[in-house]
Amino acid sequence: MQVKISERLAKLPRYLFADLRRKMADARERGIKVIRIDIGDPDAPAPDPVVEELCRAVSDAGDPDRHRYGCDRPAAEFPQAVRDFYRRRWDVHLADDQVLTTMGSKDAIAKMGLALMDPGDIGIAPVPGYPTYNISHVFAGGETFRVPLLPANDFLPDLDSIPTEVLRQARILWLNYPNNPTTAVAPPDFFRRAVEFARDNDILVAHDAAYTENTYDGYRAPSIMQVAGADEVAVELFSLSKAFNMTGWRAGAVVGNASAVAALNAVKENIDNGSLRAIQFAAARALDLAEEVIPPINAVYQRRRDLVVEALNSAGWRIEKPKATIYVWAPVPDRYAGDSGAFAADLLERTGVMVTPGRGYGESGEGFFRISLTYPDDVLDEAMGRIVDMKL
Ligand SMILES: Cc1ncc(COP(=O)(O)O)c(C=O)c1O
Repeated sequence: MQVKISERLAKLPRYLFADLRRKMADARERGIKVIRIDIGDPDAPAPDPVVEELCRAVSDAGDPDRHRYGCDRPAAEFPQAVRDFYRRRWDVHLADDQVLTTMGSKDAIAKMGLALMDPGDIGIAPVPGYPTYNISHVFAGGETFRVPLLPANDFLPDLDSIPTEVLRQARILWLNYPNNPTTAVAPPDFFRRAVEFARDNDILVAHDAAYTENTYDGYRAPSIMQVAGADEVAVELFSLSKAFNMTGWRAGAVVGNASAVAALNAVKENIDNGSLRAIQFAAARALDLAEEVIPPINAVYQRRRDLVVEALNSAGWRIEKPKATIYVWAPVPDRYAGDSGAFAADLLERTGVMVTPGRGYGESGEGFFRISLTYPDDVLDEAMGRIVDMKL
């Protein structure tokens, strides 16, 4: 039997990378040595003390709840560590009801629509951007209004360009800085403006802070929660995935507006049962050790960033080194006339190097491609060598 899938599922956009995946399999079959530099998933393990804490907690016979539902017996250490981290890092003081444990930020993004939107409501999402914002709206029966992030505007959304009719129906505005895929960072003034905009239009701003800790050259990314009054109109989605090399662990938190936190919690209580207590203990340990364990992780990405940007620039690109994220976002060479899919396919065919076409992040990502720094130096080095030799 072929099941009939729901209209909501059918409405999700086709997986834009499916075509490239097929081309990659094809190339491999023909004996081309494919080098992937497209996926943003850290290659190094979580810091040792975090792994040790996980092992301790999971085998702690003194804790009878250690293998039970994480939601019923949450480890108070994790939300406490989140509060401590926000205070140390941004001088932001969060109350008990302003912190919710999540299974990474995708968990929170995907369920936020169900918490806040009714059929016909609108969510505003940046494009290019993380696809789950739109997916969250679609699962809730809502629609997405796409606001472009353009190079001319330093990849910040022009909030004033959003039509009044859209604002009337909008429940949520997604922001993400440091930004995936553009690597742009937001000046603190922008967050002030966003909070004011949210207040004026009665919309919740959800700031996806997946990359605030992946920063270089001394840059420190702001939190939207630093803006006075932000907790009246904003939440921030913090994740341990990229900061601590913990993507597989599924650990994060939503902080900020207490009513939004409670609504998301209500959705989560009905859908998931939280994460293993040992993960919560270990994630708390990671946050407690942030100042110690994050700099060596970033030193690796900074070195790889330099390797990639300098190689591309030696081949004729003119890219500035990104201050943050684990990506490099580069324009496709002129002769591809802005067609990132054609560039990625040609690059794969001629060099075996697999990058992500910007189009995959939505229409305004067209004209660019993304390289991920989550690959060993020698892999990036070989990939860059092939691109330079190709003489684009
Ligand atoms: C912008 C952005 N948000 C959220 C996520 C999801 O991260 P996680 O669910 O691992 O916290 C990612 C992952 O790549 C991302 O790039």
